[in-house]
Amino acid sequence: MTERHTPRVVPLIDQRSASLLTPAAALAPKTRIAATGLLSDTLGRPLRDLRISVTDRCNFRCNYCMPKEIFDKDYSYLPHGDLLSFEEITRIAKVFVAHGVQKIRLTGGEPLLRKNIELLIEQLAALRTVEGRPLDLTLTTNGSLLARKARALKAAGLQRVTVSLDGLDDAVFRSMNDVDFPVADVLAGIEAARDAGLGPIKINMVVKRGTNEHEILPMARHFKGSGIVLRFIEYMDVGATNGWRMNEVLPSADVVKLIHAELPLVQLDPSSPGETAERWGYADASGQHDKAAGEIGVISSVTQAFCGDCNRARLSTEGKLYLCLFAAQGYDLRSLVRAKESDTDLASAVGHIWQGRTDRYSELRSAMAPDGGTGVRRVEMSYIGG
Ligand code: GTP
Ligand code: 5AD
Ligand code: SF4
Ligand code: SF4
Repeated sequence: MTERHTPRVVPLIDQRSASLLTPAAALAPKTRIAATGLLSDTLGRPLRDLRISVTDRCNFRCNYCMPKEIFDKDYSYLPHGDLLSFEEITRIAKVFVAHGVQKIRLTGGEPLLRKNIELLIEQLAALRTVEGRPLDLTLTTNGSLLARKARALKAAGLQRVTVSLDGLDDAVFRSMNDVDFPVADVLAGIEAARDAGLGPIKINMVVKRGTNEHEILPMARHFKGSGIVLRFIEYMDVGATNGWRMNEVLPSADVVKLIHAELPLVQLDPSSPGETAERWGYADASGQHDKAAGEIGVISSVTQAFCGDCNRARLSTEGKLYLCLFAAQGYDLRSLVRAKESDTDLASAVGHIWQGRTDRYSELRSAMAPDGGTGVRRVEMSYIGG
């Protein structure tokens, strides 16, 4: 089935530069915040997960993320000088790790389009958590370059990958990526990642009602027993360009019901606090979790928000810190780094920013206007990463 491209208003203001909060206020307070690993926000949520976007470019044009009509040949991506260098990223990451971050995810756009990404991975892999352990270092990719790059990524110190894949049917997949990219090449990328030892591999499938819901069961059958965790994501109203409509969201409860009718499921306990996905295991004949058959996940940001223990911070390609996937404004950390602030100043600024955090967009969504009630357009997912 082909995606319907509804005409959209092209925004006149580029929110990447219009919505810039300076962290000067965070630097100014008399109280200095040292990095102790014990930081928490106004709702008592710790900082555990840093998601770093390394490029705002992608070679796919998934309609729910980078619709072709907006991200066309005239779209101006960030100039190279605006991007954080690998050294700048590592320096910022180090400060976040000192504040308690345990997991770093590289995202984009498509992160494998960033030149020499392995060099960044090497630098990040050398960092240690407050407890002295290696980070959970992972990357989200569309899989198109994975067959070529999996071994080098592993050798650089990447632990695992998550691959986006919205269906197995070639025509459906080509239409959803909107650049006619064949599904076989992504499947080959997933195999290469497995061979390279980049596991546990997760697959993220965004489900759009009327577009790929008929791919749910084939995907479940395909990955059952493979050791790969397939996760179904509710189509979200992220950004301002994807023309999101509630009637295109298929609630996760329906996904679970559909799969359970053919492949019985049992609910599993969360594996860590603040997790995005609810876990369901394939059941054996006695109704117990059959570990060899594996598990699926459902990510229900629309129908069952999980802001309550959200421990995720996002660093954009040009160094702005976003406290929520749906934020309209970011804090310009790059200016601090380029102003040669010390690491302790940087840590104090991040500490103040996180301590003041109130964000819980998904929980408030139903009560809000499409602009999040702010009057400001939200940033795109291709810009701050998933
Ligand atoms: P794992 O550590 O592998 O479990 O990863 P994760 O689920 O924390 O991250 P991933 O990027 O794989 O998240 C999957 C999808 O969940 C994303 O692509 C988003 O669609 C959605 N998602 C991730 N984080 C958030 C979040 O903080 N808020 C909301 N609303 N959705 C999120
Ligand atoms: N809704 C849900 N997930 C989205 N992603 C991008 N746009 C959306 C959206 N509108 C997520 C997908 C994709 C990752 C890169 O970002 O999980 O795999
Ligand atoms: Fe690219 Fe991923 Fe966005 Fe698709 S969802 S356009 S693959 S960044
Ligand atoms: Fe976290 Fe914002 Fe997502 Fe809620 S909507 S889970 S606060 S990123």
